[in-house]
Amino acid sequence: MTGSNQVPYLLRAARGEVLDRPPVWMMRQAGRYMKAYRDLRDKYPSFRERSEIPEVAIEVSLQPWRAFQPDGVILFSDIVTPLPGMGIDMDIAEGKGPIIADPIRTQAQVDALRPLEPEESLPFIKPILQTLRQEVGNQSTVLGFVGAPWTLAAYAVEGKGSKDYSIIKNMAFSDPTVLHQFLSKIADSIATYVRYQIDCGAQVVQLFDSWAGQLSPKDYDTFALPYQQQVVRQVRETHPDTPLILLVSGSAGVLERMGKSGVDIVTVDWSVDMADARKRLGPDMKVQGNLDPGVLFGSKAFIRDRILDTIQKAGNRGHILNLGHGVLPNTPEENVAYFFETAKQADQLLATCA
Ligand code: CP3
Repeated sequence: MTGSNQVPYLLRAARGEVLDRPPVWMMRQAGRYMKAYRDLRDKYPSFRERSEIPEVAIEVSLQPWRAFQPDGVILFSDIVTPLPGMGIDMDIAEGKGPIIADPIRTQAQVDALRPLEPEESLPFIKPILQTLRQEVGNQSTVLGFVGAPWTLAAYAVEGKGSKDYSIIKNMAFSDPTVLHQFLSKIADSIATYVRYQIDCGAQVVQLFDSWAGQLSPKDYDTFALPYQQQVVRQVRETHPDTPLILLVSGSAGVLERMGKSGVDIVTVDWSVDMADARKRLGPDMKVQGNLDPGVLFGSKAFIRDRILDTIQKAGNRGHILNLGHGVLPNTPEENVAYFFETAKQADQLLATCA
């Protein structure tokens, strides 16, 4: 157990300390698989209300903390939340995700964007992060998060989630000048937002470049990586000590390139064996992951075996145990509880197997 005066596990793992067990949290740990969340959603049917009324967003963020005591408590929000502050209106539709009514396609639209001023356009972030820090103390770590430029541009240009990203790829591969300007503007605003989250209390920040895995490695190097680097570079200038994590969905083909972004921790998904990921990323890169979220539909013995396999392959330094992507709706809550309990006893379980 982490004592009351100690540095929490997640920060210790991010510093590369040798630990008796890895810290554990789950992406989307606050969400639809939890009855408490669904009940609150009935009361506040709009996602923007749930995430932008501080009391409600705090309550949602703390639901998994109270139920499972994860080593990381993530801000309840969305990657598109800062877009209105840049002049891109959006909504989040039930079961569909972000919707942008007036998608960004032209030079004039890019010219009209405003640099983000978080204090003004995101006034709810400060009370949310400050309260989360007070609530968890040093028993857990508060994570902030942002969308990375390519993924935010994909939503803003397509207007919604996409299967093939044909509109943004058309822009990228036929006349990329406007898109590059857009990506650079997003990077500047997102760097400002990361700094603001840290100032408000986020102790670690995760960058979601969820759709960068849709790019070939060559195009990742042109449209995703340079703008990840732009964000990381600007954040490091003022906040060099805050650990940064990068996630790309379907990352097997770009894993080494993710390391070049400058982040401290690379999220590995289940398309890569954790032992292979360690070899590919080298001894200095920390890793997070990498269970298939579907594992949580399996039996308890199955879940335990997969947890122990991942921990053994990742080793006892610089590993944050997590799923490779968000927990799926309809996942049994008792299996989520079992995942956390088992992860926290991993040292004893591994000692008895040996
Ligand atoms: O991880 C957490 O617990 C923090 C909360 C969080 C949400 N969105 C809440 C949310 C985080 C970290 C995100 C990030 C996010 N949002 C990403 C990156 C992660 C990833 O999935 O790759 C992306 C791509 C989005 C955009 C988005 N927002 C999608 C695709 C959806 C889901 C659409 C659906 O209904 O399946 C959303 C809505 C959303 N954001 C939900 C949650 C819990 C689901 C709707 C709801 O529960 O009300």
